[in-house]
Amino acid sequence: MDKNINSTEKKKVIFSGIQPSGNLTIGNYIGAVRNWIDLQNEYYCYFCVVDLHAITVRQVPADLRKRTKEVLAIYLAAGIDPEKNVMFVQSHVPAHAELAWVLNCYTMFGELSRMTQFKDKSRLHSDNINAGLFTYPVLMAADILLYQTDLVPTGQDQKQHIELARDIANRFNAVYSPTFVEPQPYIPKTTAKIMSLSDPTKKMSKSDFGGGSVGILDSRDDIIRKIKRAVTDSGSEVCYGEGKDGINNLLNIYTAFSGKTPEEAEKEFAGVGYGVFKEAVGETVADSLKEIQEKFKMYMDDKDFLDGLMEKNAEIAYSNARKTLSKVYRKVGFYHP
Ligand code: TRP
Repeated sequence: MDKNINSTEKKKVIFSGIQPSGNLTIGNYIGAVRNWIDLQNEYYCYFCVVDLHAITVRQVPADLRKRTKEVLAIYLAAGIDPEKNVMFVQSHVPAHAELAWVLNCYTMFGELSRMTQFKDKSRLHSDNINAGLFTYPVLMAADILLYQTDLVPTGQDQKQHIELARDIANRFNAVYSPTFVEPQPYIPKTTAKIMSLSDPTKKMSKSDFGGGSVGILDSRDDIIRKIKRAVTDSGSEVCYGEGKDGINNLLNIYTAFSGKTPEEAEKEFAGVGYGVFKEAVGETVADSLKEIQEKFKMYMDDKDFLDGLMEKNAEIAYSNARKTLSKVYRKVGFYHP
């Protein structure tokens, strides 16, 4: 295993993470995890399960614990190689919380007030607008900056947070001396955003407990049933078009899972009704997820392996993170004999 960050040829660093705040959806798979597989050879990658972020919204403790393991097992089952990447749980590496505190003092109230995700989430959780929700992007900046990350693969919705991380890095570097790499967002051009099945104008979300999202771990029957019930327009032609958000989304899901082009997909379903099309989409998704689900089960059944992997990787992450953290502590003037 070569996870020594100082090894001869220096690879660019990638950091990404998913919150264990709900069951991972096919949107997380297509939009994130599946793309990571292509990155693991070219880059030095950290793939994190960001549990500290998850508690900005109230979680059921037992569920959070269970999902944390599940997310890691999904990473593995999807093909992220534990020998090549640093896969770990955020709360296992105290440097994230430590750096976040320091960076809080280099982030402006006004900047955080402008974050659109904060505004959206405050609306959604108006009974619990806690300080963690407000400083969430600072913790995310800490995740990224701790590892001298060059590129952050995420969805479009996280771009503003990555820009903030850049601004914080810049500010710190300017006040002291170069300390942090300025990270860039890395948004895959080809991947379509997977939308909710119940409201195809909204992103599919793992905290949607209605029928709007398909879980990576959903049973075959559930997958097919949910896709059959997907909201579509009143037309009958299976093709991309304006005002056909539901069908556009199902076509995107179909092409993402079948590997076919949009043109091929339209041709394949020319002249058939929505019902037949939905059935085919459901079956394609269920067939494609079968292998991941089997591997997932295998990893979940091997508790010792998963626990060992978490521990080993947290150590690697911490030993890399500590270098940045001690630089920061020295620069701001903390006395450490
Ligand atoms: N905020 C990200 C999301 O909800 C998750 C996240 C936390 C993250 N820390 C990160 C993503 C660091 C990339 C890098 O999608």
